[in-house]
Amino acid sequence: MRQRLIHLRNGGVSVVVDASIGVPVIVHWGRELESIDEESILATVYLPKQPGGVDVTAPIAIVPQHGEGCLARPGLAGHRPGGRHFAPRFGLQNFEASKSSLVVTSIDSIAELSLRFEISLREWGALSIKTKVTNNGESRYLLDTLSITLPIPQLAEELLTLSGRWADEFDMHRQGFNHGAWTSENRSGRTSHEHPPVVWAMQANANEWSGEVWGAHLAWSGNHVLLAEVLADGRKYLQLGELLTAGEICLEPSSSYSTPEVVAVYSSHGLTPASWKFHHNVRANLPNQTGPSRRKVVLNTWEAVYFDHDEKRLRKLAELAADLGVERFVLDDGWFSSRRNDRSGLGDWWVSNEVYPNGLKPLISHVQTLGMDFGIWVEPEMVSEDSQLFRSHPEWALVSPGYEPIRGRNQLVLNLTYEPAFEYLFLKLHELLSQNEIAFLKWDMNRPHVQATMASGAAATHEQTLALYKLIDRLRAEHPKVEIESCSSGGGRIDHEILRRTNRVWTSDCIDPIRRQKIQRGASLFIPNEVMGAHIGAEVSHTTGFSHPVGFRALSAVFYHLGLELDLGKCPTDELVSIREAISWFKNHRDILQSGDAVRFDCQSASNLSHGVYSKDRNEALVALVQLTEMIQGNGPQFLRLPGLNAQAKYQVSMFDSNFLPGDRIGEFSGSQLEKFGLSLPKLRPNSGVIFHLRCV
Ligand code: DGJ
Repeated sequence: MRQRLIHLRNGGVSVVVDASIGVPVIVHWGRELESIDEESILATVYLPKQPGGVDVTAPIAIVPQHGEGCLARPGLAGHRPGGRHFAPRFGLQNFEASKSSLVVTSIDSIAELSLRFEISLREWGALSIKTKVTNNGESRYLLDTLSITLPIPQLAEELLTLSGRWADEFDMHRQGFNHGAWTSENRSGRTSHEHPPVVWAMQANANEWSGEVWGAHLAWSGNHVLLAEVLADGRKYLQLGELLTAGEICLEPSSSYSTPEVVAVYSSHGLTPASWKFHHNVRANLPNQTGPSRRKVVLNTWEAVYFDHDEKRLRKLAELAADLGVERFVLDDGWFSSRRNDRSGLGDWWVSNEVYPNGLKPLISHVQTLGMDFGIWVEPEMVSEDSQLFRSHPEWALVSPGYEPIRGRNQLVLNLTYEPAFEYLFLKLHELLSQNEIAFLKWDMNRPHVQATMASGAAATHEQTLALYKLIDRLRAEHPKVEIESCSSGGGRIDHEILRRTNRVWTSDCIDPIRRQKIQRGASLFIPNEVMGAHIGAEVSHTTGFSHPVGFRALSAVFYHLGLELDLGKCPTDELVSIREAISWFKNHRDILQSGDAVRFDCQSASNLSHGVYSKDRNEALVALVQLTEMIQGNGPQFLRLPGLNAQAKYQVSMFDSNFLPGDRIGEFSGSQLEKFGLSLPKLRPNSGVIFHLRCV
């Protein structure tokens, strides 16, 4: 008899798929199984007829099918002229399986459509699924949706989701998952600040180190829709896909549409171990550069000088930065054409004669003489109406002809799907990188798409997103050593697909350390610490207006990709001394910080937060404790439990204060003691923190 269930096993996770029927059904995704008992697994998925329902209870397949009687939201929606074939029903065509991957093709010969599923379980335990639909008929098929659905066991009674806004990204929210539906729709044309494409289902009361958790991410930098639903019969699922505007994807005969990849992770030990699988996924696919442990300490000029590019002042800034130990000088917005403010110049990618009469070379070589490399800011997808480019090619803007365009930050989006515009941008960026010694590009994108329309008149976000990937890929192929940062007014474009072609993300425009602590914690649910740019800013935060001591600002940045973003010329000497200490501390611990496992802890009190990093071999750990607000009165001593170390090993624990000076030895504890009883925590003032250093003895 042909085997019905395919068992994929990798990285401590099992995924069991029924590939015997029309569209594959995930019948188990979770704990690793030694063997599978088909009958008992199938009994949990194929339910008897429900009273009042149709005669079969259709399973929740990877693409649930209305045509089969499934009442979950259909995974494939679309139609042919006259509304025909809106509810296809697929039959299995073929499948090929290996130990960790499965390719299935399904066909509906009436609707003349086929589906191809690529399912693999990576060695780090992340499940990856992509689907493609092909129009085998002779008429057009207008596609509304093709999304990927993951069934979730009923014991998952909570959802953890992320939301946000400019300068306040990655807010974590927990809510019940017992009835109804939660949905998140992003129409901003980028990954978005508002709706990061990540959703977690969790066993009730699961936390950072306990309970079963299932997380799913859509690796896509355009529009998306996420859904978590509980059906009336109690079955639960997550669904993730690109959000397509009506008519955006029109499949001509023989053409296809492929979904973005869904990356999904599971752990029976809470969110922190599950996040490692997401982190591993990013690390495995990052464009290969100098290696994670060699990420350079950056100085970014934005909050230091904004548009006030004065070469003398910048040279001085570079000297101060180099003296503190900075390794890369990044010249932000304001260096090109007429760009003296945010109303002008985008699209004219040549060095401003007014500000740099001798070009950038003198500044670059000054920076290099100081021992740093040079990076530069660009925003290629945009055009200012006050630019030579727009005056020559107004038709290159991504607008809807006949309508007054909606502006954002005084700018329009360029239509990358229009070949001449694409070629122009490639050429300008290629020239910039060929004519100057540039090690790093900060690739910004500062406004959403609104009514973005292609030459055909159809919505453009899907094609624009693919064109953006193509532009970066082509540039990378020509300049493989240049590192790229994905920035979109801070954290508006952070996802695993952009991180296949960029090395760093600018997590937020807010560098207020209190807010950053929360932003970075939320982002670490699905991206590793070392890709998050984190800068020490000015004493008074430019986005919130709050003041913070330098040690606390530094402590909130050193666990990530460290940088500075302040006018060093205005810093008092003691502040410069602290920044120098922080940079040297970062360099001393860079290996573990940038290649270890990021950990988050559940604190007893909401007034503090704790996170850190464990070395892969668990011989060393750095754990930060930060005090966000006043300690709540009446609280007795607090303890921080540190699960996940080597239970038998003995750790010597010492503490750094926020001046990064080697502090007191606290004592020696076994991994098992640290897990069961934890470390007794010092009383801290708000806006301060400490770092515990644990080393095996
Ligand atoms: C938005 C970015 O997030 C900032 O860091 C800065 O680069 C500005 N754009 C420049 O216009």
